[in-house]
Amino acid sequence: MNIIITGATKGIGRAVAEHFAGQGFDLAVCARTQADLDAMQRELEKAHGVKVLVKVADFRKKQDVLDFAAFVRSHWSQIDVLVNNAGVFAPGAVHDEAEGNLEWMMETNLYSAYHLTRALLPIFLQQKRGHIFNMCSIASLHAYPNGGSYSISKFALLGFSKNLREELKDKGIKVTAVLPGATWSDSWKGADFPADRLMQASDVAQAVWSAWAMSPAAVVEDIVLRPQQGDL
Ligand SMILES: NC(=O)c1ccc[n+]([C@@H]2O[C@H](COP(=O)([O-])OP(=O)(O)OC[C@H]3O[C@@H](n4cnc5c(N)ncnc54)[C@H](OP(=O)(O)O)[C@@H]3O)[C@@H](O)[C@H]2O)c1
Repeated sequence: MNIIITGATKGIGRAVAEHFAGQGFDLAVCARTQADLDAMQRELEKAHGVKVLVKVADFRKKQDVLDFAAFVRSHWSQIDVLVNNAGVFAPGAVHDEAEGNLEWMMETNLYSAYHLTRALLPIFLQQKRGHIFNMCSIASLHAYPNGGSYSISKFALLGFSKNLREELKDKGIKVTAVLPGATWSDSWKGADFPADRLMQASDVAQAVWSAWAMSPAAVVEDIVLRPQQGDL
């Protein structure tokens, strides 16, 4: 079994990687920082005896996304799980956020998932099975103060996920939108909250695993997770 996870060296992506590696999955992962990828490769291969393929990629750039897809395809002829997780977050409002925020977050949070999925779909369609997860957000569900381009990009990613689900229904391929609320990660560095006010990245990983582990007859279409005390 194998899994592709984008933006996998930290936070939620890292937690998903550790969970699936612990279950014996080989991994193909990317991020922008080579040293983090090398360390992750060493640690997971040593801890779990799995194979970890790593490649530096900036998922803001279409060519890097396509190069990562080609890299995976040069190693693997079948794929069990794809997690479109890489994403960036910057708060802001449409009327005063920095020029270019929309392009930055649409490219990183939406286009990367679209292009990677398209590049890998021939494998999924040929094998007539597999599971694609899209890391959306509760920011995909409603507007909130300072949502701005981040929320817009996550609404769009949920739209992508729903369209993909619809078109792959009769092709044996599962599609799940994951919509976490506030989850401890580098994005929250320095935030002054009690530890239990936010979810752990491992909570999200466990939800992804549970959806994956179902029989071929069932697909979890959406996973909405919130901190016990609700949104921040
Ligand atoms: N944390 C939350 O509260 C929360 C809530 C809802 C949804 N989400 C979503 O969950 C996903 C993961 O979030 P997180 O909070 O776990 O993030 P994180 O801790 O900031 O980690 C992001 C990961 O993605 C990589 N990355 C960032 N930009 C990239 C790029 N342009 N190209 C390739 N890799 C890139 C980072 O490594 P490098 O920096 O080395 O590239 C890192 O491995 C995102 O899509 C985010 O929107 C998070």
